[in-house]
Amino acid sequence: MKLVKLLANLGYGSRKQVAWMFREGRVTDAAGEVLYADDQVGHADVRVDGEALDPPQGLTLLLHKPSGYTCSTKDTGRLVYDLLPPRFRLRSPVLSSVGRLDRETSGLLLFTDDGQLLHRIISPKAALPKVYEATLAEPLRGNEAVLFASGAMLLEADNTPLKPAVLDVLSPTQARLTITEGRYHQVRRMFAAVGNHVIALHRSRVGGLSLDTLPEGAWRALDAADIARLMTADG
Ligand code: URA
Repeated sequence: MKLVKLLANLGYGSRKQVAWMFREGRVTDAAGEVLYADDQVGHADVRVDGEALDPPQGLTLLLHKPSGYTCSTKDTGRLVYDLLPPRFRLRSPVLSSVGRLDRETSGLLLFTDDGQLLHRIISPKAALPKVYEATLAEPLRGNEAVLFASGAMLLEADNTPLKPAVLDVLSPTQARLTITEGRYHQVRRMFAAVGNHVIALHRSRVGGLSLDTLPEGAWRALDAADIARLMTADG
């Protein structure tokens, strides 16, 4: 691929803007030799203003989403993309979030530019567990775990019952819920259906991947071992 296209795809600017970067001598090889727009040089050997390029296509990353950020590219208010380098919003193929978390939900959010991987993660066939910690407005009654595990719970406006889910009670008003689907507002709707209300929600795990020590608001790129861990059912 010609360098001008490589850099434009990585979000360094439009083709025209990137062409100017070459004219200004800002694009070099690792030894500092100026490169030209139609050169075809490997990603690892290119520098812009002396800096290595952003990760190549095939980028998957993990963000510790804080509450208050919307999973959208264009909404008013804070966006999850504001927590990533600005260039990442301009990449082609697009770096999109893998599913969504509600604005007020915090925790593990994935992004990828790999459409096939995205479909593998969200596929009902994969049935990857998603683990949520919920803080509730009312004490649990004690019958929720059996109902959630039944595979027969039907939420209002849904046509099919929910797949069995696992509820671990952590305190009278705190619970860990493991689900394998990703229906709209699923966790909040499940607790609403048993007369409760979620006042705080955090996703701590997807598949075998956890946030570990990643601080709130921070992100990291995933490598092949992380992705293998993600695609396993246990953490
Ligand atoms: N379920 C919800 O209700 N909200 C989320 O953000 C994720 C799962």
